[in-house]
Amino acid sequence: MSSSPNFHPSTDESAADVFTFDFLVQPDLEPGQRWSVYDDPGILTGPEPVPDWVITDSGAIETELGTLKSGKEADVDLIERAIGDRRTVLAAKRYRSSEHRQFHRDTGYTEGRRVRNSRDRRAMAKGTRHGRSVEAGQWAAAEFFALADLWSAGVPVPYPIQLDGTEILMEFITGPDGAGAPRLAQTRPDPELLRSYWDQLHQAMVVLAGRQQAHGDLSAYNLLAAGDRLVIIDLPQVVDIVANPTGMEFLARDCRNICAWFGKHGLELDADGLLAELISYAW
Ligand SMILES: Nc1ncnc2c1ncn2[C@@H]1O[C@H](COP(=O)(O)OP(=O)(O)OP(=O)(O)O)[C@@H](O)[C@H]1O
Ligand SMILES: [Mg+2]
Repeated sequence: MSSSPNFHPSTDESAADVFTFDFLVQPDLEPGQRWSVYDDPGILTGPEPVPDWVITDSGAIETELGTLKSGKEADVDLIERAIGDRRTVLAAKRYRSSEHRQFHRDTGYTEGRRVRNSRDRRAMAKGTRHGRSVEAGQWAAAEFFALADLWSAGVPVPYPIQLDGTEILMEFITGPDGAGAPRLAQTRPDPELLRSYWDQLHQAMVVLAGRQQAHGDLSAYNLLAAGDRLVIIDLPQVVDIVANPTGMEFLARDCRNICAWFGKHGLELDADGLLAELISYAW
């Protein structure tokens, strides 16, 4: 690749003063590669301060590394973003339109959420192809904004890098070996680590409650055990526990799920006591 202009004198003697320029010669992309769109207008990017490890250059190339996990509503693929000798691996969460999903979220989550564009609203109500893709984009946008707000509030969530339609690029959470961090449900932490994980999760739930929010689908499957650190993922359905009439039920379910998992692994917790404590932070 050459980024500075190259001047090629013409070999045709009759046009001795004609030069050709090949500015910005760019390499051809291989299959499975694309240009980074990080600085394209129309792309929403993550909150400030942007961490140092995020490659923001427009000439960066992204290479598909394969699927990390196919979930019920989205696939999480790995992507390498690289420029020069800098490279990072990112997680790309790609929402499927509802016709390709195996699971439809409870409508309770979306109560109180408004679709401003009336064409989109009609298309969603009719279930047209356009409506289904608007819906997938809305889940992606909801998760992107939840990640951005919570990251800024200091809650341990992956840093959201950008939102492009139905795709969120975010920090890839790894364990000490550099591979994808396991879900908490796959781990058997010793008592000390279990206690530390609970302290971290409790602190995060307190911050959420202070913002009048609940995760809404909290379980040991939506928590990543990244070495000593616990990271919360899968946040498209974050619920407003005050404005949403069923918000409190989601908060109560989150408390029950989490306390049951920690209890089963040796740390007895009181789900009702936790719920009462969190409600006290919300008001
Ligand atoms: N940022 C990330 N870093 C590392 N692994 C991740 C990340 N985001 C997601 N994963 C992995 O991908 C899986 C699916 O992600 P997520 O829970 O967000 O999607 P989902 O479609 O709701 O999946 P599921 O139906 O399994 O809940 C996670 O359980 C986790 O193993
Ligand atoms: Mg999940």
